[in-house]
Amino acid sequence: MYFISVQTKAITTTGVLASSSGDLRHVVETIAQLPETYNQPITVTLNDRDINIVARNTILLLIALVGESIDKAIDCIIHVWYSALLRRSDNELLQHRIRPLIQDFCLQIAGERSEGIVGKTWTFGQRSLKLVQKKSSWDATLSYFEQPTGLTAKRAQNIRTAVTLAASRVDYTDRALYLLSPSHRIASRRFREDGLLLPFGFPRHDFTDPNPTFFHTEDSWPMTDSADPQYGWSTEKIAQTSSGPATADLYGKIFYFLRATLRCFLVRLSESAVSFQLFSTDVESLPEFLDGARFDRIETSNIADKGWFGIHKTLASLGPFLQAPDINPHATLITSFINAVDENLTQQDRMANITPNSAETKTLMKYLPVKRACASKYDPDLIKFHFGRDAVSRCDHIFDRHLKELRLKEWADLLGMAIKDDPTIIEKWPYRLKLRPGQPGAQAEFDRLLAGGVSGKERYVEWRLVDG
Ligand SMILES: C[S@@+](CC[C@H](N)C(=O)[O-])C[C@H]1O[C@@H](n2cnc3c(N)ncnc32)[C@H](O)[C@@H]1O
Repeated sequence: MYFISVQTKAITTTGVLASSSGDLRHVVETIAQLPETYNQPITVTLNDRDINIVARNTILLLIALVGESIDKAIDCIIHVWYSALLRRSDNELLQHRIRPLIQDFCLQIAGERSEGIVGKTWTFGQRSLKLVQKKSSWDATLSYFEQPTGLTAKRAQNIRTAVTLAASRVDYTDRALYLLSPSHRIASRRFREDGLLLPFGFPRHDFTDPNPTFFHTEDSWPMTDSADPQYGWSTEKIAQTSSGPATADLYGKIFYFLRATLRCFLVRLSESAVSFQLFSTDVESLPEFLDGARFDRIETSNIADKGWFGIHKTLASLGPFLQAPDINPHATLITSFINAVDENLTQQDRMANITPNSAETKTLMKYLPVKRACASKYDPDLIKFHFGRDAVSRCDHIFDRHLKELRLKEWADLLGMAIKDDPTIIEKWPYRLKLRPGQPGAQAEFDRLLAGGVSGKERYVEWRLVDG
C-alpha cells in the first residue's frame, strides 16, 4: 500500500504516521511511488512496541541513508531484511558504517537510567533519522550487530531449519506446499532450507555470515516456519516481474521486484527532504512522543482488530493526531481488520456457504473442478477446497453487521470522526478476487490468492475528522 495519493497546495510538509508499523514495506512503497510533481518535505513517523521491529527498521533506514552507492545499498537492504546469511561485504557495511552510529550514542548515554527515554537525530544532507526509545532499548539495538560467539553459518542454518523444517510442523508445511504450483514448491522448499532471498540459479557461496539482526540471541530463530518475504508484497506485482528465462522462479521474481522497488525508494530519497522518526513504544504511550504533531496520513496496521488494540481505542488514541480538515481535507486515518470476519461468523454464516448448492460452492467448483472422489476428510484436494472457500466468499454482510454491533457510528460521532464512504487510499476489500471465473487471468488470480499470505477477507476502513 502506498498512502500519499492526494495533496493540497496549502500543505508545506506532509506528515505520515505508521503506527504499530511492523516492517518498512508501506513506507518504502509510499516514498517509491511519490508522484514526480510532488516536491514538498515529508516527515515519516513510525512506532512499534516490538524492539525487533524498531531496531531492524532503524538499521535498514540507516543503510538507505548513509550514502552508499545505490546498487550496494539495494542488495544490502534486501539481505539484511530477508536473508538468514549475509555476504561479508553486507556485514562489513553493517559493522563499519551503521554500528558506530548507534555505538557512539550508546556511549554518550551510558550514565542514563535504563528506563530513561532518550533520542538521537542523525542528519544526512536534507534527510534525517531520529530514534527515540528507552536507554535499555538503545543497548538492545546495539546487540543487533553482535553475533553470538562461535556461531558459524552452518550452525546458524541448523538453528533456522530446526524451525522452518521442523518435523512437528510437517502437516502445516505440506498443506502450504500443496497450495503452490509444482515449480513454486521447489522454490519454497529451497527458501525453507537456506533462507536466502536470491534467484534460484544465483551462486550462494558468498553468503558466509549469519545475519546478526536475526541471530543476535543464541540458539533461536525469531520467526515462524511460515514467515516468507512474498507475504509482504503484492503477489500480482511479483508475478508480473520478469525473472528472465526462469519464468517460474518465485524468489527470483521477489528479488527483482524488491530491487526495482528499492531503487525507486532510494532514488526518490536521494532527491527529497525526508525526516524519519522512529519511536520504540506502545501505541498507548505514543501521544507522549508526538508532541502535538498532526498527520496527513495515519496507518494503523490491523491493531483495530479485537485481539490487538481494538477499533475504539485505536480511533480514540490516534484520531486526535489527524490533520484538521481545514488544513488538509484529505487527511485520512486507515484501519484494517484481518480477523474481524472470522471472529464474527455465526453458525448460520458458516452453514450458508458450505451447502453444495450455495453460490460460493458453485463458484469454487469452477476454479477447483472435482476430478476424482476424495479418499477421506484429509484428502489434499478437500483441504484445498476448504482454503478456496475463503477466496470466493463474500463477507460484506458479516463485516457490516459487526460494525453495527460495535456501535462505531456513535463512537466516531463522539470523537468527531467519520468513515470515508468512498476510500481514496486503499479499497475496502483490496485482496478479494476482482475477476469472475472464466475471464482471462481469473484462474491465475485465484491460484495466487490461494498461495499468498492473504485470505481475501481483509477489510480496510478509512476515517476522516469531521469539520468543526
Ligand atoms: C498488529 S501486528 C499484526 C501482524 C499481523 N498482521 C497479524 O495479524 O498477525 C503489526 C505490528 O503491530 C505491532 N503492535 C501490535 N500492537 C501494538 C501496540 N499496542 N502498540 C504498538 N505496536 C503494536 C506489532 O509489534 C507488529 O509489529
